[in-house]
Amino acid sequence: MYVSMKDMLWHAHDNNYAVMAINCVNMEQAKAIIESAQEEHSAVIINISPRQMKAHGYPEILAPMIKNMAERVNVPVAFNLDHGVNYEDITRVIHCGFSSVMIDSSSFSFEENIKRTSVVARIAHANGLSCEAELGHVGIAAQEDNKNQDLYTNPEQAKEFVDKTQCDCLAVAIGTAHGSYPKDFVPKLDFDRLKVLKETLKMPLVLHGGSGAGDENIKKAVECGINKINVCTDFFKHAQNAMAIALKENPNIDYMDVNMIAEDEMKKFIKNYMRLIGSDHRYYFEENVVIELD
Ligand code: 13P
Repeated sequence: MYVSMKDMLWHAHDNNYAVMAINCVNMEQAKAIIESAQEEHSAVIINISPRQMKAHGYPEILAPMIKNMAERVNVPVAFNLDHGVNYEDITRVIHCGFSSVMIDSSSFSFEENIKRTSVVARIAHANGLSCEAELGHVGIAAQEDNKNQDLYTNPEQAKEFVDKTQCDCLAVAIGTAHGSYPKDFVPKLDFDRLKVLKETLKMPLVLHGGSGAGDENIKKAVECGINKINVCTDFFKHAQNAMAIALKENPNIDYMDVNMIAEDEMKKFIKNYMRLIGSDHRYYFEENVVIELD
């Protein structure tokens, strides 16, 4: 089923679990993500950022392909613009057929963030898409932004922000950051702040920087109210490592076989993560009516 993020995230909110949002730039990744979701009976969100769209994953080609794959399975699949900043990208993906957008104006002032998010939420809703926003700022792990509490989300501001913008879910900054942390470093998350945010907002909350945050942290974040977890770096690393090993073992390996090995590794990673955040076995269907992707 090809759907927006809205209902699946309220289902996760009502039942206290989280849905993965995984960055994707090609068919192999989309296939691994959607097959994993189907096999785990889990909802899933496919993300792509403006940088990824520019570098490799043309949204005009990915959107119809993902929609086609999603319509062959019995679990909810959303396609979301990750960290949309400008109106050109937002309107472009709406025209392409994305089911969701994120407007990230978290680098602007509180007032400007409200202004920009409200406009995008209105446009998204008018076109049947859900809208994610960010308040506070989830920065870059390599810059140690995760430790900068000035960037963390303020719960009182968050209430005003959601009331005024009408966003469907909110990305909060509580101590994670994007990308790889230094070796053996595990971030310290502000769970007390997260609990207050959940109690105040009573709506789906989003955690960015789901790579390298540590299983215990991720599990506790879900217990405290996170319903969508963005994962990119670790997902890409798994595929890259699998390809490197396959090529090392057999430098003459067929190109298609390398891709298929990567796909299998990506599926293993996704399925484990889905079980960690409790999104598995949330959707039930008769096995004999499943339409396989291949
Ligand atoms: P990671 O690359 O740290 O997993 O972050 C992904 C993310 O938050 C995308 O929005």
